[in-house]
Amino acid sequence: MIALVPTMGALHVGHLELVKRARESADFIVVSIFVNPTQFGPNEDLARYPVDLEGDVAKLEAEGVDLVFAPSVGDMYPDGMTTWVHVEGADKHLCGPFRPGHFRGVTTIVAKLFNVCLPDKAVFGLKDAQQFLIIRRMIADMYFPIELIGCPTVREHDGLALSSRNIFLSERERKQAIVLSKAVDAARRLIDDGERDPRKIELAMESIVASAPDAVLQYAEVVETRGISPIDRLQPGQEVVAALAVFFGRTRLIDNTFAIVPDL
Ligand code: PAJ
Repeated sequence: MIALVPTMGALHVGHLELVKRARESADFIVVSIFVNPTQFGPNEDLARYPVDLEGDVAKLEAEGVDLVFAPSVGDMYPDGMTTWVHVEGADKHLCGPFRPGHFRGVTTIVAKLFNVCLPDKAVFGLKDAQQFLIIRRMIADMYFPIELIGCPTVREHDGLALSSRNIFLSERERKQAIVLSKAVDAARRLIDDGERDPRKIELAMESIVASAPDAVLQYAEVVETRGISPIDRLQPGQEVVAALAVFFGRTRLIDNTFAIVPDL
């Protein structure tokens, strides 16, 4: 059994948790490290993305990873390439409208990594909820013979989701950044307590973000996970995700919670 953990490097404890999950379910672990240029928009600083290949390899060796696959841009995007993999309609909400082309870049590189590494299983973080859902759709639609494993979000002690972008936060911003996890916790509680109006859940998230003076909300949205689309009312048994994106200066953070709507 081969398990693949796709990453863009600058590995933190959240990534290593995916590796641990992979180890539990396969005997040969491949971790790919590739900062994928096609998933960055023109205003998203590809050049600013942290790179530490040597440090990453040392961390992966310590985790007993069997193979690190770190291709060059030319390896993954040879001249003349014109084929893209796009999960239609799945990027109309959440991060999609704010990051045009992003998910097309993600699905294209992940499909290529699947074809190059030929894994039996692939491990992704639920922290990137929309990415996870889109890859789930792609695997099903394209009949990739791969089992998808979702790994819960790894957090700092105060709740902030680990992210390679957290290093860009000032001390003041870092303290305020707990509003993201507080907002998704509140959303989760409301859903568990029987709130069925998605707008009320979104407003609750918005007001928590507004309590941080330096936070600029990009979106707070509740969607059902099959079509990744908004709903008028939450239905019992339905899987939903409440997600948000918040800027602190130029640093964009995301967080979310998955929930099955209870039948109260
Ligand atoms: P990257 O941001 O490096 O993330 C690699 C994997 O780690 C993703 O599946 C992501 O969801 C997961 N991850 C990140 N932070 C996490 C956390 N705090 N807890 C749990 N998992 C976490 O996501 C990408 O790279 C790229 O889009 C990629 C899929 C590699 C395609 O280029």
